[in-house]
Amino acid sequence: MCGIVGYIGKRNAQEVLIKGLRRLEYRGYDSAGVAILSDKVGKRPSRLQIEKRAGKLGILENILTQKPLAGNLGISHVRWATHGIPNTKNAHPHWCCANRIALVHNGIIENYEELKESLIKEGHKFRSQTDTEVLVHLVEKFYQANLEEAIRRALKLVRGAYAISVICKDEPDKLVGARCGSPLIAGTGEEEGFLASDIPALLDYTNEVTLLDEGEIAVLTPRGLEVQNLKKDILNKEKIKISWDAAQAEKEGFPHFMLKEIHEQPRAITNTLMGRISEDKEKVLLPELKSLEKFFASMEKIVIISCGTAWHAGLVGKYLIEEFARIPVEVDIASEFRYRNPILNDKTLVVAITQSGETADTLAGLHAAKNSGAKILSICNVLGSSIPRESDAVIYTHAGPEIAVASTKAYTCQLAVLYLFAFYLASLKNPSYFTKPHSLKDYLTNLENIPAKIEEFLNNKDNKKVIRQCTRRYHRSFGFLYLGRSLNFPTALEGALKIKEISYIHAEGYGAGEMKHGPIALINPHLPVVCIAPGDSVYEKMLSNIEEIKARKGIVISVATEGDKFISHHSNHVIYLPRINPVFSPFLTVVPLQLLAYYIAAKRGCDIDRPKNLAKSVTVE
Ligand code: F6R
Repeated sequence: MCGIVGYIGKRNAQEVLIKGLRRLEYRGYDSAGVAILSDKVGKRPSRLQIEKRAGKLGILENILTQKPLAGNLGISHVRWATHGIPNTKNAHPHWCCANRIALVHNGIIENYEELKESLIKEGHKFRSQTDTEVLVHLVEKFYQANLEEAIRRALKLVRGAYAISVICKDEPDKLVGARCGSPLIAGTGEEEGFLASDIPALLDYTNEVTLLDEGEIAVLTPRGLEVQNLKKDILNKEKIKISWDAAQAEKEGFPHFMLKEIHEQPRAITNTLMGRISEDKEKVLLPELKSLEKFFASMEKIVIISCGTAWHAGLVGKYLIEEFARIPVEVDIASEFRYRNPILNDKTLVVAITQSGETADTLAGLHAAKNSGAKILSICNVLGSSIPRESDAVIYTHAGPEIAVASTKAYTCQLAVLYLFAFYLASLKNPSYFTKPHSLKDYLTNLENIPAKIEEFLNNKDNKKVIRQCTRRYHRSFGFLYLGRSLNFPTALEGALKIKEISYIHAEGYGAGEMKHGPIALINPHLPVVCIAPGDSVYEKMLSNIEEIKARKGIVISVATEGDKFISHHSNHVIYLPRINPVFSPFLTVVPLQLLAYYIAAKRGCDIDRPKNLAKSVTVE
């Protein structure tokens, strides 16, 4: 997730761009850059001036304050790296061989490697490791004095998600943007036009915006905005009046980043899966693992290390890898792993799961594992952070920056990678699993469909009502118990952690079968017990646990599959999930638990995005 701002008009472009980027910094912050077309002075023609820097926006800003770039047409970008480490070369804008066209991009170009190869053969010179750079060379290839036409032809060759903003020095009165899968909005003022990834970037200048839809191209000139589609039809687009202030707009109207990030999960998972499933759905594509292919042949065991929410993802990973690939998996909390004497050798793969890539215990665990000769694979959300840098291979989650301290979208994206990894290993080590009735194609098709199912759940008003009702009734409770089994035992742990960290209510997550070994003593008419009971292989067992709770007058909040009427007779409240293959249920079951924690914390007046005593990145022990 990156941020784009573009400007054309009479104002000083640098000022508009930097102010806009400041408002988009929440979208990414590992590097930043601007391209501004200089004014024509006398006989001196206008030229593209580009300044970009690794690091926070402030670094670029300081440079531009000392050496300002004059001009009234420009594009700019704050980056959250996905392909290519966050350094100055990989920062946007990128420009073409003839220094004529500059481009910024938010999204992922899936087929960039093949495009890059053929562009290099045609003589194009690349300067960065990004997927983005293929776009500017493609536009250059097709450019014949009409920027939007060149963009249209380039985009027809591209697979993936993008929002782009482009300028060309031969057309100094034109700013062009296009969108497919990543957000882009256009705004107009008097003889001026704007493009941005998000509304806050424009609110200082206009509160009337046009939201571009998939496959649309916006052409802004001082005369106004024209929106076209890929077939060149000119579209009649509606302008929307925005009533939010800038701070609200950063959160897209959500009151907190956590709620926004919960709703971003469908897009984040789609981005994480993008390009990693073959078009015919017969294969998992993880070129990141190429260097480990030989090692996998002799690998005997996997040890997953991680902390907090990432540890819960690791627990789901164990179930998946053991079930599909039949490789033994241990899962360890990194802070325990680093201080015990684990049995590791050169046939062990240690998988470090981490959103931030900087967690001190996970990093120390990684060092210990390296010393024992194990290979290291990391699953991480922050490109170029410490843990991926020290790993033999990395699979990045493409969740975009997670701002709320409580992890939500990073968790479901970690799950997405673990499903892919389990299917990948199964294809290598246990291919017979995918004989009828279990075809890999079915699993991968189901996996790709998960974002739509989460969206369906999030749009269901009845569920919201149940969650709100539980919030009203139980927000003063002294504690919560969360029970799940099998793949949803980790979901129970995650649900308990979420409510604990943001609402400060004590909560325990348990494997439901453990209830009679202790926690059943807690059941009373005041204790809400969240029972995760999708229609999976342990459903009947969960029902018995629910009966045991009801027999002791406990309060049961069930998370079940739509159409399950039976469970409603045994529960005080039921939250229904769309029907899916139960093996993927952890993606869905966690979402109502995130929402329940969120609404209870909101009702208690807690500082949801910044809970007390917690930090987003735990870089100390
Ligand atoms: C909980 C949460 C933490 C992190 C943990 C590990 O909502 O966010 O439990 O999951 O601190 O952090 P990373 O994944 O950055 O290693």
